[in-house]
Amino acid sequence: MPSLAIIGAQWGDEGKGKITDYLDEQADLIVRFQGGNNAGHTIIVDGKTFKLHGLPSGVVRPGKLAVIGNGVVVNLEELGDEINHVIANGGSVDGLRISDRAHLIMNYHKKLDGAEEKYRGKNVVGTTKKGIGPAYQDKIARIGFRAGDLLEDDLLDDKIAFILPYKKDMLDLMEAEPCSCTVESLLDKMRGWRDMVGRYICDTSVLVNDALDQGKNVIFEGAQGAMLDIDHGTYPYVTSSATCGGGICTGSGVAPNRIDGVLGVIKAYTTRVGEGPFVTELSGEEELALQHKGGEFGVTTGRGRRCGWLDLVVCEHASRMCGFTSMGITKIDVLNDTPDLPVCVAYEIDGEEVKHFPASIAKLNRAKPVYEHFKGWNGWRPEDTMSVVKAGYDNLPGEMREYIEFVEKYLKVPADIISLGPDRDETIDRRGDWWN
Ligand code: IMP
Repeated sequence: MPSLAIIGAQWGDEGKGKITDYLDEQADLIVRFQGGNNAGHTIIVDGKTFKLHGLPSGVVRPGKLAVIGNGVVVNLEELGDEINHVIANGGSVDGLRISDRAHLIMNYHKKLDGAEEKYRGKNVVGTTKKGIGPAYQDKIARIGFRAGDLLEDDLLDDKIAFILPYKKDMLDLMEAEPCSCTVESLLDKMRGWRDMVGRYICDTSVLVNDALDQGKNVIFEGAQGAMLDIDHGTYPYVTSSATCGGGICTGSGVAPNRIDGVLGVIKAYTTRVGEGPFVTELSGEEELALQHKGGEFGVTTGRGRRCGWLDLVVCEHASRMCGFTSMGITKIDVLNDTPDLPVCVAYEIDGEEVKHFPASIAKLNRAKPVYEHFKGWNGWRPEDTMSVVKAGYDNLPGEMREYIEFVEKYLKVPADIISLGPDRDETIDRRGDWWN
């Protein structure tokens, strides 16, 4: 199986970073296909720590190609800082490749992101304010800059002269912070970006398809999660890209028949950042306890994440939208020493039991979780985790296996990876070889 996609099954922050990092070791090429620097993960390679947002996780692994696909929106100013951070920490970005079709996040997109949120008032989405939504809006409105534009001076000059006044008017209209740049200063800035990353820009669809033709191992690395998908997520409380299965193809320039497997990453409980419906959300002390136990604070924004019990209505929706062929269950160790573990198996909406995640926000706001209760297990001390991992799946506490196997049965997908701690080694891998 030379290609595998890794997609979060909830609202992001499922621990995809760790699973991707764990599997990256076996991959030749890693592709990001959507989102931008609204994502965030920490990666440790040879004792060096890298905090990445816009760069694909594989970039810090020597000898691998790490691709920013056409479906990603790229903030080159912030990517420059990240590249410097990697180099300052003893890494290299030689393997980086950026699609010539990837759209750029400009400073005015960040300003518009903040202004749009202000306009929404009580309907605020709670975005990361990284300019993601406004950059995708411009892509669809056909007024976006693409990475490949940087390589064509005349085209760039022409586009800036047309687009900059348009965006300045938009900033005015939205009462956003004005943009002080001129056509000349923006052209200069963008030439600087070309000098910084021009050598990495290419047709990455050809690169990825050639790698697949040669039988190389390719990982498609999802960002955010299925429930933040622009079509299939909790609209309008979503991000602006296609985070589910279809996004892999449109965002990296590969056909559906080139994707051999999709690994859904499911956190053993649920979290979400920002606004929007969350049927199994906890409140008060109970929520704070889970937040602290799980270290649920955002890498990109530092915000405390909302926390609740595992919701299999959500996971079934994600699995259907992404085509999960296997699962990675993460942070199950966080549930150690919890006597009662509720798992949501349906919603009760207006007196009816509903098994499929509804589109309507109004319905979701009226939904009550229907729980099945599982007996918790007595966990181990963190320093014992490696011996638990070495003892293998069959020696995990019986109640933990019951929890995992219930999820497998409900979703009809095998849980091939069980993550028992933040380190790469703290992982039970029931498949071993991912490529056969
Ligand atoms: P945006 O992607 O910045 O437009 O934010 C839209 C929604 O997606 C907000 O609720 C964000 O909190 C959420 N979001 C964006 N990126 C992530 C992520 O990487 N993890 C979790 N939530 C995210």
